[in-house]
Amino acid sequence: MKILAIDTSCDETCAAVCFNDRVISNIIFSQIELHAKWRGVVPIIAKRAHQERIWPVIEMAIKRANTDLEKIDAIAVTIGPGLAIALEVGIKTAVEISKRYEKPLILVNHMEGHIYSNFAKNKKGKPLNLTKNILIPNLCLLISGGHTEIILMKNHGDFELIGKTLDDAVGEAFDKVARPLMLGYPGGPVIEEFAKKGKEDRFQFPKLMQRRNDFNFSYSGLKTASVLLIEKLKTEYKEDFHKVLPDFCASFQKAVVDSLIYKVKKAVQKYKVGQLLVGGGVAANNYIRKMIRRDIKKLGVKVTFPNKKLCTDNAAMIGVAAYYKAKRKEFVKNMKNIDRIPNLEIGQKIS
Ligand code: KG4
Ligand code: ZN
Repeated sequence: MKILAIDTSCDETCAAVCFNDRVISNIIFSQIELHAKWRGVVPIIAKRAHQERIWPVIEMAIKRANTDLEKIDAIAVTIGPGLAIALEVGIKTAVEISKRYEKPLILVNHMEGHIYSNFAKNKKGKPLNLTKNILIPNLCLLISGGHTEIILMKNHGDFELIGKTLDDAVGEAFDKVARPLMLGYPGGPVIEEFAKKGKEDRFQFPKLMQRRNDFNFSYSGLKTASVLLIEKLKTEYKEDFHKVLPDFCASFQKAVVDSLIYKVKKAVQKYKVGQLLVGGGVAANNYIRKMIRRDIKKLGVKVTFPNKKLCTDNAAMIGVAAYYKAKRKEFVKNMKNIDRIPNLEIGQKIS
């Protein structure tokens, strides 16, 4: 089954062509440079950029896959969660193509897409993350700019949310801490870079959510503690502040990873799964990949990350998720009532 997949949930305009679970083309037109000066995503700017770019991006995805729209078997699009006015652009375009070329339409939950980035294969059918067998049931840890969640994957298409952040998402914490450090947007990759040369035990942060006996997260406390520490260090070090920046970044990153590992360990033990799948933009972080892998493997649990190119937003992951939905014949029945669901939760029924 050849699927054209579209994602405009946030600040990347994405289209991909998948053949079953194989990624044939994957085009991502990032809007980072448009939002960077505002130090965060501005919805109206995102919407306009998606409108300008969606067709060229789709055309490129089709061209790179050496195919044309008539030869596509189904169209897949992200229905939520995400920014309402950004999601609308992708949905409108997908509906238009689906009607004009009389192709079935598949609606995909963006977070399900992040999970399915672990299942993506290359053109020849080789897993892009080199993981041959994915055990089911498994637990998924999704760490992105908008979400921090632990999900139980009971079967394909059968998900249960067992923990989430009560305030900021992990990626959001990276982005917010990057602001007073003047590191630009998005903050994650830059903080990772500085952290490489820093000492992770130099600064201590409060232990996050460890007193609570659930699988939820909270990052607003870490953000506040970080901002206060940055102010203190700026006063203390003045023009030499850059000298403590690597140690700060390394210590911050360690606090984040410790909190993730603490909750994931407990969840893995409670649900007795044999595998952990990680996904979302923050899963591109090498240090976080290394530490989660090291600590969770000790429990006898296999740990799988997506190929780094599929961690941040892309449409290939939407195409792979759609392929599994197509196998279950989950196509849209009524084209009239399609509307974006900005707060869509994992496991929520959409069609
Ligand atoms: O999954 P994603 O592309 O978009 C959402 O669905 O939110 O994730 C974007 C987030 C941003 O907050 C960004 O700072 C973070 O992922 N991120 C990283 C890294 N690369 C991206 N965080 C830490 N380390 C990285 N290398
Ligand atoms: Zn995402």
